[in-house]
Amino acid sequence: MCGIVGYIGKRNSINIIFDGLKRLEYRGYDSAGVAVINDENEFNYYKKAGKVKELEKDFNGEILDGNIGIGHTRWATHGEPNDNNAHPHFDMNKHISVVHNGIIENFKTLKKKLTQEGYTFSTDTDTEVLANLIDFHCKTTHDFEKAVRYALTEVEGTYGLAMLCNTEPDKIIIARMGSPLMFGLGKDEIIVSSDAAAIIKHTKNVIYLEDGEMAILKRDGFQIKTINDVDIQREVQKIEYDLEQIEKGGFEHFMLKEICEQPDTIQNTYRGRINFETYDVKLGGLDSVREKLFNAKRIIITACGTAWHAGLVGEYMLEHYCRIPTEVEYASEFRYRNPIINKDDIVIVISQSGETADTRAAMKEAQRLGATVIGIVNAVGSTIAREVDCGTYIHAGPEIGVASTKAFTSQLMSLALITLMIGKHKGTIKEEEFKEIVDELKILPGKMKEIIGKMNEYKFVAEEFKDSLNFLYLGRGMNFPVALEGALKMKEISYIHAEGYPAAEMKHGPIALIDENMPVVFVAPKDDTYDKIVTNIEEIKARKGKIITISTDHDEEIKAYSDYTLSVPKTVDIFAPILNSIPLQFLSYYIASARGNNVDQPRNLAKSVTVE
Ligand code: AGP
Ligand code: GLU
Repeated sequence: MCGIVGYIGKRNSINIIFDGLKRLEYRGYDSAGVAVINDENEFNYYKKAGKVKELEKDFNGEILDGNIGIGHTRWATHGEPNDNNAHPHFDMNKHISVVHNGIIENFKTLKKKLTQEGYTFSTDTDTEVLANLIDFHCKTTHDFEKAVRYALTEVEGTYGLAMLCNTEPDKIIIARMGSPLMFGLGKDEIIVSSDAAAIIKHTKNVIYLEDGEMAILKRDGFQIKTINDVDIQREVQKIEYDLEQIEKGGFEHFMLKEICEQPDTIQNTYRGRINFETYDVKLGGLDSVREKLFNAKRIIITACGTAWHAGLVGEYMLEHYCRIPTEVEYASEFRYRNPIINKDDIVIVISQSGETADTRAAMKEAQRLGATVIGIVNAVGSTIAREVDCGTYIHAGPEIGVASTKAFTSQLMSLALITLMIGKHKGTIKEEEFKEIVDELKILPGKMKEIIGKMNEYKFVAEEFKDSLNFLYLGRGMNFPVALEGALKMKEISYIHAEGYPAAEMKHGPIALIDENMPVVFVAPKDDTYDKIVTNIEEIKARKGKIITISTDHDEEIKAYSDYTLSVPKTVDIFAPILNSIPLQFLSYYIASARGNNVDQPRNLAKSVTVE
C-alpha cells in the first residue's frame, strides 16, 4: 500500500533510494528503511519508525556502499509501526531481503509451515514470512529466481515486491499482484518504484509491470516473465507528466484521489475475508470474541464525526440483519455521561486514525466498566488499535485529505462484514439473501467505478449551487446517516451551512426554512422507503425548494419531481449507503473547489483530533 524504491547500476544506490523515498512521502507512511548489498556481499541496512528524514539523520552520512539496494516506506497492515516491523525484511539467515507493499493473506498458514521447517521470526509482519519462504525454496533450487517463483505460487494476497539475494548480488527481482510496480531505464542503471514520482528525476522511460508478472533486473538489462515462467515482451513507455502531478496520481487534490480510489479500497476491506465459493465470512481479528458477538444482548457503537455516521449505519445493519439491539453514542458524550454498561455488552469503537482522544477515552471507559471492546480502525498499530480487546482493520490505506471519504465507505464495509458474520451464524439472514449479498460484493467495485465515471454530472450540479448559503440533506432508514455524512462533507470543505435530517422529520421544523433558495439533497433509492420519500420530495417541491436526488439508475419517475438527479446503480440494501455516499462526496468536493477552498486542508480542522 505504501512505497517501494530500488536501484541497480553504477552509482552509489543509497542517495538515489533516499531521494526516491522522500518523493513517495506524500502517500503517507509510518516507517521507512533501506538495504544495500556491500562489496563483501553482505546486507547493510537501516530501518526505523518515523520519517525518512529521521532515518537519514540516524544514518548520519555514513556511507552504505553498494550500487544495488532497495528501500521502503511502510504503511503498516500487520504488526505495529515500530523499528523492528519496518521494511526491508530478511529471512532468518539474512540471505534474502524483501520490501513489500500489500498484504500476504495466508501468512499465518505459511508461517506455521516454515516454523515446522525450523524457521524463526523476529517481526510481526506478513512480509517477513515471504522472505523466509523464498530462502526455504532457495535451499532446494539454489536459484534466486526459481525460489521467488515457487514462493509466489504459494502466496495469496496482494503484493508489489522488490527482492535481493546476497548470493546473487547482481540482480533485483520484482513482482506484482494488485499493487503497482514499474521500473525506469537509465544509462547502465534501472530504478524500480511503486510510483513514477521516484523515477522521473532519473528517466522518463519506464516499463509497467502487470499483475501476475515478475522481472529480473540487472545493470545491463532486464527480463520480464509471468510468475509461471512465461516470457513477456513489453514496450517502454514515456512518462508524460511532471512530478507535482503524479504525486497526486494526476488528481488535483488528495480528496479527489481518495474518492476515486474507493473501488479498490473497498476490495481491500473485504479481500481474504469472504469466501465466494463457500459463502463464509471470516474476520480473523474477531476470532476471540465470536461467541460473545453471537450471543450479544446489546451492542454499543461509539465514535466521532464521520466514523460516528458509519456507526449509525451499523446500528441499522445490526438491528435489521442480526436482531441485536444497538445504540450509537458520540464518544465525547459517552465518556462523561456515566453510561450503563454490562459486562456482556459489546462496545464497538470506530476510528480512521485510531488516535482520536474522545474515542480513546470512550474505549477506556467501556473497558473500565467491563465491556468487551472491538475496534474498527484504519491506521494499523495506532493507539486505539493497540488498546482495544480485539478488532478488524479496514485496510483503506493512508487517508491524507482531512475530509474522510474512503475510510467512511470501508468502515461501512467492515460493519457489513461483521453483520454478515453474525447474521449467518444466528440464521437471522436467510440463506438466499445471504448469497445475494455476497454475490453482489463481486460486482460492487464495478458499480462504484460507474458512479465515479459520472464526474461531469457532479461538477455541473456543483456549478449550479456553488453560491448557496445553506443545504439540507434528507434520507430515510440506512440512508439517513448518509444524509448526515453528506451534510458534514459539505460543511467541512465548502464552509456552506448544511444539515442532515431523517426525511420525515423535516415537516416537524426544518420545512420552515424551505424557499426557492434552499437546495435539498434527497437520498432516494428504490427501496422499501421509496414511496414515503417521494411524498417528502413533493412536500419540498410544493414550497419551491430546489431538489437534487440521489436516485437509482433508470428511475424515470423521480426525475419528474427533481430539479437534478444523480443516479447510482441498484444494489442490495446493505451496500446502498456505500454507493449513495459517492455522489455526495463529489458534490461537496466540486463545490469546495469551485469556491477556491483548500480542499485537502480545510480551515480550522485537523485530520486527527488528539485533544479533548
Ligand atoms: C471527517 O471528515 C472528519 N474530519 C472528522 O469528523 C473525523 O471523522 C473524526 O474526527 C473522527 O476521526 P477518526 O475516525 O480518525 O477517529
Ligand atoms: N503488509 C506489510 C506490512 O504490514 C506491508 C505494508 C505496506 O504496504 O506498507 O508490513
